[in-house]
Amino acid sequence: MNTQPKHIAIIMDGNGRWAKKRLMPRTVGHARGAANVRHIVKTAHAMGVRYLTLFAFSSENWRRPPEEVSALMGLFLQYLASEVAEMRAAGIRLRVIGDRSAFAPLLQSRIDQAEHDTADNDGLHLTIAANYGGQWDVLTAVRAWQAAHPERSLQELDPAGLATHLSTAELPDPELLIRTGGESRISNFLLWQTAYTELYFTDVHWPDFDDAALNKAVQWYAQRVRRFGRTDEQVLQPYSAEHHPSTALVIEKDIKIG
Ligand code: FPP
Repeated sequence: MNTQPKHIAIIMDGNGRWAKKRLMPRTVGHARGAANVRHIVKTAHAMGVRYLTLFAFSSENWRRPPEEVSALMGLFLQYLASEVAEMRAAGIRLRVIGDRSAFAPLLQSRIDQAEHDTADNDGLHLTIAANYGGQWDVLTAVRAWQAAHPERSLQELDPAGLATHLSTAELPDPELLIRTGGESRISNFLLWQTAYTELYFTDVHWPDFDDAALNKAVQWYAQRVRRFGRTDEQVLQPYSAEHHPSTALVIEKDIKIG
């Protein structure tokens, strides 16, 4: 059995379809989605999750109709205005990853302020990915590594060196990635950081993703056998069965191979 994941990442998909099903504009779905962000952040914090990373706006989302883009920006601003004081008091640290230079100056300054106001917190580390793309993150990290080490050749760049320049450099990699809304794609989210992440896809649309749905995902994660490139036998029988037959038996019985 795995313990509860320390870091959960979520692709919050399905706001538009949630609204369409109810004959409402897509922006109503996003507003319900934003309300659910508030709720799930509180639940994750109460569950003792240390890191929660949410995909709020991808680099590709600019292609949406301008009124939808502007509604999403408005919700982000509103979220910062209404939540940061409470986060600060509750011990939540907020980070925003992605290319924020494309945002309106007001939103950029509210993001800076929110990060500054919660920088000393060490309860839940909440990261919002906004104008974020995994390919952008990796390319930016390579360029930053090169700028930081002008005397070195790119041949010397290794995974650990690159990771220190990713936007998530201060975060552990997620153990569990949840995507709501019924699609089974990564959609340019944390491409590098999810190399060994367990991927959980659910048909539930984001506004309906409640505590029970989160618990179900966490329970599912608990049953996964994480091999990190090793064989099932190596993971399930850390001691030789010959010398520790009873240990191997207990481990095998307790872990359901997914
Ligand atoms: C995907 O649903 C969702 C988004 C592109 C935006 C996610 C935004 C929020 C949850 C609200 C704002 C966020 C914060 C942090 C306040 P979709 O529109 O692609 O849904 P569809 O696939 O059903 O059309």
